[in-house]
Amino acid sequence: MSLTQQRVREILGGVSDPGLDKDIVKYRIFRSAEIDGDAVLVNVDIPTPAYTEPMRAELRKRIEEALTSAGASEVTVVPKVVTVYLPAPSEKALLPGVRNVIAVAAGKGGVGKSTVATNLALALRDHGAKVGLLDADVFGPSIPQMLGEPEKPAGTTEDQKIVPAIHYGLRVISVGFFTNKAEAVVWRGPMVHRLLQQFLSEVMWGDLDYLICDMPPGTGDVQLSLSQLIPISGAVMVTTPQEVSLIDVVKGIAMFEKVEIPILGLIENMSTYTCPKCGNVDHIFSHGGGKRLAKESGIDFLGEIPLDSRIRYGGDSGVPIMLSAPDSEHARRFLEIATAVTLNIADLVLSQPKRSPRLSIIS
Ligand SMILES: Nc1ncnc2c1ncn2[C@@H]1O[C@H](COP(=O)(O)OP(=O)(O)O)[C@@H](O)[C@H]1O
Ligand SMILES: [Mg+2]
Repeated sequence: MSLTQQRVREILGGVSDPGLDKDIVKYRIFRSAEIDGDAVLVNVDIPTPAYTEPMRAELRKRIEEALTSAGASEVTVVPKVVTVYLPAPSEKALLPGVRNVIAVAAGKGGVGKSTVATNLALALRDHGAKVGLLDADVFGPSIPQMLGEPEKPAGTTEDQKIVPAIHYGLRVISVGFFTNKAEAVVWRGPMVHRLLQQFLSEVMWGDLDYLICDMPPGTGDVQLSLSQLIPISGAVMVTTPQEVSLIDVVKGIAMFEKVEIPILGLIENMSTYTCPKCGNVDHIFSHGGGKRLAKESGIDFLGEIPLDSRIRYGGDSGVPIMLSAPDSEHARRFLEIATAVTLNIADLVLSQPKRSPRLSIIS
Protein backbone atom coordinates (compact mmCIF):
# COMPACT_ATOMS: atom_id res chain seq x y z
CA MET A 1 0.00 0.00 0.00
CA SER A 2 1.57 3.28 -1.00
CA LEU A 3 1.52 6.29 1.24
CA THR A 4 -0.98 9.11 0.79
CA GLN A 5 -0.48 12.80 1.56
CA GLN A 6 -2.77 12.46 4.53
CA ARG A 7 -0.94 9.41 5.87
CA VAL A 8 2.44 11.19 5.55
CA ARG A 9 1.04 14.15 7.49
CA GLU A 10 -0.26 11.85 10.19
CA ILE A 11 3.05 10.05 10.51
CA LEU A 12 5.07 13.26 10.60
CA GLY A 13 2.68 14.66 13.22
CA GLY A 14 4.25 12.09 15.51
CA VAL A 15 7.78 13.36 14.86
CA SER A 16 9.29 16.09 17.02
CA ASP A 17 12.21 18.23 15.91
CA PRO A 18 15.41 18.20 17.96
CA GLY A 19 15.73 22.00 18.21
CA LEU A 20 12.33 23.04 19.52
CA ASP A 21 11.27 19.58 20.64
CA LYS A 22 7.88 20.19 19.03
CA ASP A 23 5.56 18.37 16.62
CA ILE A 24 6.93 19.24 13.17
CA VAL A 25 3.51 19.44 11.53
CA LYS A 26 1.92 21.67 14.14
CA TYR A 27 5.02 23.86 14.26
CA ARG A 28 5.14 24.16 10.44
CA ILE A 29 8.61 22.70 10.10
CA PHE A 30 7.11 20.13 7.73
CA ARG A 31 6.12 22.11 4.61
CA SER A 32 5.11 19.57 1.99
CA ALA A 33 5.62 16.06 0.70
CA GLU A 34 6.01 14.73 -2.81
CA ILE A 35 5.03 11.07 -3.14
CA ASP A 36 6.13 8.89 -6.03
CA GLY A 37 5.09 5.29 -5.46
CA ASP A 38 6.95 4.20 -2.32
CA ALA A 39 9.39 7.09 -2.48
CA VAL A 40 8.71 10.22 -0.44
CA LEU A 41 10.41 13.59 -0.67
CA VAL A 42 9.83 15.79 2.36
CA ASN A 43 10.37 19.55 2.27
CA VAL A 44 11.15 21.03 5.66
CA ASP A 45 11.45 24.66 6.74
CA ILE A 46 14.33 25.18 9.16
CA PRO A 47 13.13 28.11 11.34
CA THR A 48 16.51 29.74 12.04
CA PRO A 49 19.93 29.74 10.36
CA ALA A 50 21.30 28.94 13.84
CA TYR A 51 19.65 25.50 13.76
CA THR A 52 22.85 23.47 14.08
CA GLU A 53 24.18 20.76 11.74
CA PRO A 54 23.68 17.99 14.35
CA MET A 55 20.07 19.18 14.82
CA ARG A 56 19.51 19.08 11.06
CA ALA A 57 21.00 15.58 10.81
CA GLU A 58 18.86 14.34 13.70
CA LEU A 59 15.70 15.86 12.17
CA ARG A 60 16.45 14.11 8.87
CA LYS A 61 17.02 10.82 10.70
CA ARG A 62 13.74 11.05 12.62
CA ILE A 63 11.75 11.78 9.46
CA GLU A 64 13.46 8.98 7.55
CA GLU A 65 12.84 6.47 10.32
CA ALA A 66 9.19 7.39 10.78
CA LEU A 67 8.37 7.14 7.08
CA THR A 68 10.47 4.04 6.47
CA SER A 69 8.73 2.16 9.23
CA ALA A 70 5.40 3.16 7.65
CA GLY A 71 6.42 1.52 4.38
CA ALA A 72 8.35 4.12 2.40
CA SER A 73 11.19 2.57 0.43
CA GLU A 74 13.07 5.79 -0.12
CA VAL A 75 12.91 9.02 1.89
CA THR A 76 14.55 12.27 0.85
CA VAL A 77 14.52 15.24 3.21
CA VAL A 78 15.07 18.65 1.63
CA PRO A 79 15.74 21.38 4.20
CA LYS A 80 15.39 25.08 3.51
CA VAL A 81 16.16 27.79 6.02
CA VAL A 82 13.19 30.13 6.37
CA THR A 83 13.91 32.49 9.25
CA VAL A 84 10.65 32.98 11.11
CA TYR A 85 9.76 36.32 12.64
CA LEU A 86 7.16 37.91 14.82
CA PRO A 87 4.81 40.12 12.86
CA ALA A 88 4.76 43.51 14.56
CA PRO A 89 1.94 46.05 14.52
CA SER A 90 2.17 48.15 11.38
CA GLU A 91 2.82 51.44 13.16
CA LYS A 92 6.05 49.94 14.35
CA ALA A 93 7.23 48.97 10.89
CA LEU A 94 10.15 51.36 11.14
CA LEU A 95 12.63 48.84 9.87
CA PRO A 96 11.42 47.31 6.59
CA GLY A 97 13.40 44.22 5.57
CA VAL A 98 14.46 43.42 9.12
CA ARG A 99 12.88 40.14 10.16
CA ASN A 100 13.67 40.14 13.87
CA VAL A 101 15.04 42.70 16.29
CA ILE A 102 16.69 41.23 19.37
CA ALA A 103 17.28 43.74 22.15
CA VAL A 104 20.23 43.11 24.44
CA ALA A 105 19.48 44.83 27.71
CA ALA A 106 20.50 45.04 31.34
CA GLY A 107 19.41 46.93 34.40
CA LYS A 108 22.74 48.65 34.83
CA GLY A 109 25.83 49.61 32.85
CA GLY A 110 29.12 47.78 32.82
CA VAL A 111 27.69 44.26 33.02
CA GLY A 112 28.74 43.31 29.49
CA LYS A 113 25.74 44.24 27.40
CA SER A 114 27.76 45.56 24.49
CA THR A 115 30.17 42.62 24.74
CA VAL A 116 27.25 40.20 24.54
CA ALA A 117 25.52 42.15 21.74
CA THR A 118 28.68 42.17 19.63
CA ASN A 119 29.62 38.53 20.14
CA LEU A 120 26.02 37.37 19.76
CA ALA A 121 25.81 39.22 16.43
CA LEU A 122 29.05 37.54 15.30
CA ALA A 123 27.84 34.13 16.48
CA LEU A 124 24.66 34.53 14.44
CA ARG A 125 26.78 35.55 11.46
CA ASP A 126 28.88 32.40 11.94
CA HIS A 127 25.67 30.36 11.83
CA GLY A 128 25.04 31.88 8.40
CA ALA A 129 22.46 34.54 9.29
CA LYS A 130 22.33 38.03 7.81
CA VAL A 131 22.93 40.22 10.84
CA GLY A 132 22.86 43.88 11.76
CA LEU A 133 24.03 45.53 14.96
CA LEU A 134 22.41 48.72 16.22
CA ASP A 135 24.21 50.48 19.02
CA ALA A 136 21.32 52.34 20.61
CA ASP A 137 23.14 53.08 23.86
CA VAL A 138 22.66 56.82 23.71
CA PHE A 139 24.43 57.23 27.05
CA GLY A 140 27.61 55.38 26.15
CA PRO A 141 27.84 53.99 22.62
CA SER A 142 30.75 51.54 22.65
CA ILE A 143 30.21 49.32 19.61
CA PRO A 144 32.53 51.36 17.34
CA GLN A 145 35.34 50.81 19.86
CA MET A 146 34.54 47.11 20.17
CA LEU A 147 34.58 46.51 16.41
CA GLY A 148 37.54 48.68 15.44
CA GLU A 149 38.05 49.90 11.88
CA PRO A 150 35.19 49.04 9.53
CA GLU A 151 35.65 47.28 6.20
CA LYS A 152 33.34 49.97 4.90
CA PRO A 153 32.37 53.09 6.85
CA ALA A 154 28.78 54.25 7.25
CA GLY A 155 27.59 56.57 4.52
CA THR A 156 24.58 58.37 3.15
CA THR A 157 22.60 57.91 -0.04
CA GLU A 158 21.65 60.69 -2.44
CA ASP A 159 18.32 61.06 -0.71
CA GLN A 160 20.04 61.40 2.67
CA LYS A 161 19.33 57.92 3.99
CA ILE A 162 21.95 56.35 6.25
CA VAL A 163 23.85 53.29 5.01
CA PRO A 164 25.28 51.10 7.80
CA ALA A 165 29.01 50.48 8.17
CA ILE A 166 30.28 46.96 7.50
CA HIS A 167 32.34 45.34 10.26
CA TYR A 168 33.32 41.68 9.87
CA GLY A 169 30.28 41.16 7.64
CA LEU A 170 27.86 42.77 10.09
CA ARG A 171 25.86 45.87 9.15
CA VAL A 172 26.49 48.29 11.95
CA ILE A 173 25.00 51.59 13.06
CA SER A 174 25.90 53.37 16.27
CA VAL A 175 24.39 56.51 17.70
CA GLY A 176 28.08 57.21 18.33
CA PHE A 177 28.64 57.66 14.57
CA PHE A 178 26.45 60.75 14.71
CA THR A 179 27.27 62.40 18.00
CA ASN A 180 30.44 63.18 19.81
CA LYS A 181 30.77 62.95 23.56
CA ALA A 182 29.89 66.60 24.06
CA GLU A 183 26.67 66.14 22.13
CA ALA A 184 25.54 63.06 24.03
CA VAL A 185 23.45 65.32 26.20
CA VAL A 186 21.15 65.98 23.27
CA TRP A 187 19.80 62.44 23.61
CA ARG A 188 18.65 63.05 27.13
CA GLY A 189 16.31 65.95 26.49
CA PRO A 190 12.58 65.78 25.88
CA MET A 191 13.21 65.61 22.15
CA VAL A 192 14.76 62.20 22.47
CA HIS A 193 11.73 60.28 21.19
CA ARG A 194 11.52 62.37 18.03
CA LEU A 195 15.26 62.32 17.46
CA LEU A 196 15.40 58.55 17.77
CA GLN A 197 12.40 58.08 15.51
CA GLN A 198 13.94 60.24 12.84
CA PHE A 199 17.34 58.61 13.18
CA LEU A 200 15.96 55.07 13.11
CA SER A 201 13.71 55.67 10.12
CA GLU A 202 16.64 56.93 8.06
CA VAL A 203 18.78 53.81 8.24
CA MET A 204 18.76 51.50 5.20
CA TRP A 205 19.32 48.10 6.77
CA GLY A 206 18.42 46.04 3.75
CA ASP A 207 17.47 42.44 4.22
CA LEU A 208 18.37 41.07 7.69
CA ASP A 209 17.49 37.89 9.57
CA TYR A 210 18.39 39.47 12.91
CA LEU A 211 19.14 42.97 14.06
CA ILE A 212 20.83 43.00 17.46
CA CYS A 213 20.07 46.14 19.37
CA ASP A 214 22.44 47.16 22.17
CA MET A 215 20.07 49.01 24.49
CA PRO A 216 21.02 51.77 26.93
CA PRO A 217 21.23 50.59 30.56
CA GLY A 218 18.38 51.30 32.94
CA THR A 219 14.64 51.60 32.64
CA GLY A 220 14.00 55.29 32.02
CA ASP A 221 12.25 57.25 29.27
CA VAL A 222 14.87 56.61 26.61
CA GLN A 223 14.65 52.87 27.09
CA LEU A 224 10.87 52.97 26.97
CA SER A 225 10.95 55.15 23.87
CA LEU A 226 13.26 52.73 22.11
CA SER A 227 11.18 49.71 23.08
CA GLN A 228 8.17 51.40 21.56
CA LEU A 229 9.88 52.73 18.45
CA ILE A 230 11.65 49.58 17.37
CA PRO A 231 9.61 46.46 16.62
CA ILE A 232 11.48 44.25 19.10
CA SER A 233 10.84 40.49 18.79
CA GLY A 234 12.27 39.86 22.22
CA ALA A 235 14.91 40.85 24.73
CA VAL A 236 18.02 39.06 25.94
CA MET A 237 18.84 40.22 29.47
CA VAL A 238 22.40 40.38 30.75
CA THR A 239 23.39 40.41 34.40
CA THR A 240 26.46 39.78 36.49
CA PRO A 241 26.00 37.37 39.39
CA GLN A 242 26.07 39.90 42.23
CA GLU A 243 22.93 41.15 43.97
CA VAL A 244 23.11 44.80 42.79
CA SER A 245 23.04 43.69 39.19
CA LEU A 246 20.33 41.09 39.75
CA ILE A 247 18.04 43.62 41.42
CA ASP A 248 18.40 45.97 38.45
CA VAL A 249 17.84 43.30 35.83
CA VAL A 250 14.52 42.45 37.50
CA LYS A 251 13.46 46.05 36.83
CA GLY A 252 14.59 45.67 33.23
CA ILE A 253 12.53 42.50 32.83
CA ALA A 254 9.50 44.31 34.30
CA MET A 255 9.91 47.16 31.83
CA PHE A 256 9.83 44.82 28.82
CA GLU A 257 6.86 42.96 30.25
CA LYS A 258 5.03 46.27 30.62
CA VAL A 259 5.47 46.99 26.91
CA GLU A 260 4.68 43.35 26.04
CA ILE A 261 8.08 42.44 24.67
CA PRO A 262 8.90 38.78 25.34
CA ILE A 263 12.04 37.96 27.30
CA LEU A 264 14.12 35.52 25.26
CA GLY A 265 16.37 34.60 28.15
CA LEU A 266 18.99 35.68 30.67
CA ILE A 267 22.77 35.49 30.45
CA GLU A 268 25.05 35.58 33.50
CA ASN A 269 28.22 37.38 32.44
CA MET A 270 31.50 37.65 34.38
CA SER A 271 30.45 34.44 36.00
CA THR A 272 33.48 32.48 37.10
CA TYR A 273 37.16 33.22 36.76
CA THR A 274 39.64 30.47 36.08
CA CYS A 275 43.23 31.55 36.65
CA PRO A 276 45.07 30.79 33.41
CA LYS A 277 48.27 30.10 35.40
CA CYS A 278 47.14 27.85 38.25
CA GLY A 279 43.65 26.76 37.14
CA ASN A 280 42.11 28.01 40.38
CA VAL A 281 38.39 28.83 39.96
CA ASP A 282 37.21 32.01 41.65
CA HIS A 283 33.72 33.56 41.86
CA ILE A 284 34.71 37.22 41.90
CA PHE A 285 31.19 38.62 41.53
CA SER A 286 29.55 35.59 43.17
CA HIS A 287 28.03 32.85 41.02
CA GLY A 288 24.72 31.21 40.14
CA GLY A 289 22.47 34.24 40.82
CA GLY A 290 21.50 34.49 37.15
CA LYS A 291 20.34 30.91 36.96
CA ARG A 292 18.37 31.25 40.18
CA LEU A 293 16.72 34.48 39.05
CA ALA A 294 15.80 33.00 35.67
CA LYS A 295 14.15 30.06 37.41
CA GLU A 296 12.24 32.31 39.80
CA SER A 297 11.09 34.61 36.97
CA GLY A 298 10.15 31.74 34.66
CA ILE A 299 12.54 32.83 31.92
CA ASP A 300 15.05 30.78 29.98
CA PHE A 301 18.59 30.70 31.36
CA LEU A 302 20.85 31.01 28.33
CA GLY A 303 24.17 30.36 29.99
CA GLU A 304 27.19 31.72 31.80
CA ILE A 305 30.02 33.68 30.22
CA PRO A 306 33.13 33.43 32.41
CA LEU A 307 35.35 36.39 33.23
CA ASP A 308 38.32 36.33 30.91
CA SER A 309 40.89 38.99 30.19
CA ARG A 310 40.72 38.04 26.49
CA ILE A 311 37.15 39.38 26.42
CA ARG A 312 38.20 42.67 27.94
CA TYR A 313 41.18 42.89 25.60
CA GLY A 314 39.00 42.02 22.61
CA GLY A 315 36.54 44.76 23.54
CA ASP A 316 39.28 47.36 23.75
CA SER A 317 41.22 46.33 20.66
CA GLY A 318 38.33 46.00 18.21
CA VAL A 319 38.63 42.21 17.79
CA PRO A 320 35.85 40.49 19.77
CA ILE A 321 36.54 37.05 21.24
CA MET A 322 34.36 35.35 18.60
CA LEU A 323 37.07 36.41 16.13
CA SER A 324 40.24 36.42 18.24
CA ALA A 325 39.56 32.99 19.78
CA PRO A 326 36.94 31.23 17.63
CA ASP A 327 37.79 27.85 19.18
CA SER A 328 37.50 29.05 22.79
CA GLU A 329 34.93 27.94 25.32
CA HIS A 330 33.54 31.50 25.19
CA ALA A 331 32.98 31.36 21.44
CA ARG A 332 31.30 27.98 21.82
CA ARG A 333 28.94 29.42 24.43
CA PHE A 334 28.05 32.42 22.26
CA LEU A 335 27.25 30.05 19.37
CA GLU A 336 25.01 28.01 21.67
CA ILE A 337 23.33 31.13 23.01
CA ALA A 338 22.68 32.31 19.43
CA THR A 339 20.95 29.01 18.68
CA ALA A 340 18.91 29.11 21.90
CA VAL A 341 17.79 32.73 21.41
CA THR A 342 16.63 32.21 17.83
CA LEU A 343 14.93 28.94 18.74
CA ASN A 344 13.06 30.83 21.45
CA ILE A 345 11.87 33.33 18.84
CA ALA A 346 10.87 30.42 16.57
CA ASP A 347 8.96 28.84 19.44
CA LEU A 348 7.06 32.10 20.10
CA VAL A 349 6.18 32.47 16.43
CA LEU A 350 5.36 28.87 15.59
CA SER A 351 3.29 28.17 18.69
CA GLN A 352 0.80 30.69 17.28
CA PRO A 353 -1.50 29.87 14.40
CA LYS A 354 -0.20 31.28 11.13
CA ARG A 355 -0.67 35.04 10.86
CA SER A 356 -0.31 37.22 7.81
CA PRO A 357 3.25 38.38 7.31
CA ARG A 358 4.40 41.80 8.51
CA LEU A 359 6.38 42.45 5.40
CA SER A 360 7.33 40.74 2.20
CA ILE A 361 10.94 39.81 1.84
CA ILE A 362 12.48 38.79 -1.44
CA SER A 363 15.37 36.40 -1.02
N1 LIG B 1 33.18 38.09 30.56
C1 LIG B 1 34.02 39.13 30.59
N2 LIG B 1 35.32 38.97 30.97
C2 LIG B 1 36.16 40.04 31.01
N3 LIG B 1 35.83 41.29 30.70
C3 LIG B 1 34.56 41.52 30.32
C4 LIG B 1 33.58 40.46 30.23
N4 LIG B 1 32.42 41.00 29.81
C5 LIG B 1 32.65 42.32 29.64
N5 LIG B 1 33.92 42.64 29.93
C6 LIG B 1 34.55 43.97 29.91
O1 LIG B 1 33.85 44.78 30.86
C7 LIG B 1 33.68 46.09 30.38
C8 LIG B 1 32.20 46.44 30.33
O2 LIG B 1 31.58 45.63 29.35
P1 LIG B 1 30.53 46.25 28.31
O3 LIG B 1 30.17 45.16 27.37
O4 LIG B 1 31.04 47.52 27.74
O5 LIG B 1 29.31 46.52 29.31
P2 LIG B 1 27.98 47.39 29.14
O6 LIG B 1 27.70 47.50 27.69
O7 LIG B 1 26.95 46.61 29.88
O8 LIG B 1 28.23 48.71 29.77
C9 LIG B 1 34.37 46.14 29.02
O9 LIG B 1 35.68 46.61 29.19
C10 LIG B 1 34.38 44.68 28.58
O10 LIG B 1 35.45 44.39 27.71
MG1 LIG C 1 27.61 49.20 26.50
